[in-house]
Amino acid sequence: MKSVRLALLGCGTVGEGVVRLLRQNSAMFERKLGVPLELAGVADRSLKPIPALGIDKGLITRDAAALIGRGDIDIVVELFGGYEPARTLILQALAAGKDVVTANKALLAAHGGEIFRAAVKASLAVGFEASVGGGVPIIRTLREALAGDRQRAVYGIVNGTCNSILSMMTDGGAEFADALKQAQRDGLAEADPTVDIEGHDAAHKLCLLVTLAFGVLLEPAQIHTEGISRLTLADIDYARELGYTIKLLAIAKDDDGAIEARVHPTMIPARHLLAGVAGAFNAIYIHGEALGSSMYFGQGAGQMPTATAVMADILEIARHRLAGARGGAHALGYPVAHLKRARVKPMDDVICEYYLRFDARDQPGVLGAIASILGRNGISIVSVIQKGRGVETTVPVIMRTHEAREKNLKRALATIGRLKMVERPPVFIRIEERL
Ligand SMILES: NC(=O)c1ccc[n+]([C@@H]2O[C@H](COP(=O)([O-])OP(=O)(O)OC[C@H]3O[C@@H](n4cnc5c(N)ncnc54)[C@H](OP(=O)(O)O)[C@@H]3O)[C@@H](O)[C@H]2O)c1
Repeated sequence: MKSVRLALLGCGTVGEGVVRLLRQNSAMFERKLGVPLELAGVADRSLKPIPALGIDKGLITRDAAALIGRGDIDIVVELFGGYEPARTLILQALAAGKDVVTANKALLAAHGGEIFRAAVKASLAVGFEASVGGGVPIIRTLREALAGDRQRAVYGIVNGTCNSILSMMTDGGAEFADALKQAQRDGLAEADPTVDIEGHDAAHKLCLLVTLAFGVLLEPAQIHTEGISRLTLADIDYARELGYTIKLLAIAKDDDGAIEARVHPTMIPARHLLAGVAGAFNAIYIHGEALGSSMYFGQGAGQMPTATAVMADILEIARHRLAGARGGAHALGYPVAHLKRARVKPMDDVICEYYLRFDARDQPGVLGAIASILGRNGISIVSVIQKGRGVETTVPVIMRTHEAREKNLKRALATIGRLKMVERPPVFIRIEERL
């Protein structure tokens, strides 16, 4: 091979970052590979020539399928995003003998099985480092650096939008709606932020992390997913008073085959390393049986950080091609045929400690009534804070519980919510004390 030739599908935020790296570092890439890495074509519906980046008219096409089909293309880099036509184009690329690099977590979470099977069948690679953690190299770390250990738990701050909003609430005292607007102004949240703030993006990423960590296949629908849109500043402040910070965590645990996988706001001890991960940064904290705990931290999104992860996949695949090696049989850390379908523990069976908030009338017997219902459901209380006595007619009662089964907690909260002296539905937030 005299060069390795790339087809880029999508020259938006990340795609343009890839082109910048190709241009800035072309001499270094050639030294690393021994041959030049060349951009052979860019498919994009709205791209205009960018002379400063070497994207001239002749390089641009609207016909992605024709670009993929060209005989001079070695690697197809899919950065359109979304499900279609990305899925069809990736399958076409593999069928045409091209390796693929993608950053598309939503697509891989929903159709990864089909895509990785097609890659194995064609003895081709699918690189997807940029799909989780942006510039944080967590895919390779789980697949290669940690391959010798049995992973027991993964805790990820994997959505920069949510983490930025939570930081603005925690450190700047903003209410959720104001923090979201600020994140939108700062370019950290989309105009329609639903996929991020309701936790779906984190769930897509958790699917991939679970496969790499535990060797099982999950679909997003199997993951209990709650976002941050119902969090209040009051709960963030009470959490702080109790010594906790609230983060949107993507959590997975493997208890000898019993898999937990959930995304939800979580209270973690304020002294924990993950609690200090602020703004748009991402971090993935992993507990391995032999290694113990390790954490991987960095820029979770953005043009150049994400482009570095895409580039790392391109270089790895190019090296393989140049060495005459083929295949991505172990892209997920296991032969695809060895991956199992996971049965995820129902939330009713999950055992956690809980933060509870009741907005109750300030009258005698309230605490006793609540505590007795909790007790009857097997839930014991660690601490209680009652706010504003004698000033308001309704006062928040804050409790922290010992470990309890979620089914029992929900039953107790339903009963408490029916008490006349409790004004609004009780609020609960799960606590991860020993992560
Ligand atoms: N941005 C990040 O920080 C980040 C981080 C990690 C992973 N990712 C992933 O990287 C991928 C790309 O994200 P991005 O932020 O670069 O997206 P983007 O800025 O929207 O770029 C996508 C580009 O592809 C074009 N495109 C999309 N569908 C097309 C189609 N069917 N035909 C022709 N052109 C099409 C878009 O054109 P239009 O503008 O006309 O739509 C746009 O120019 C996504 O899978 C995303 O989840 C992004």
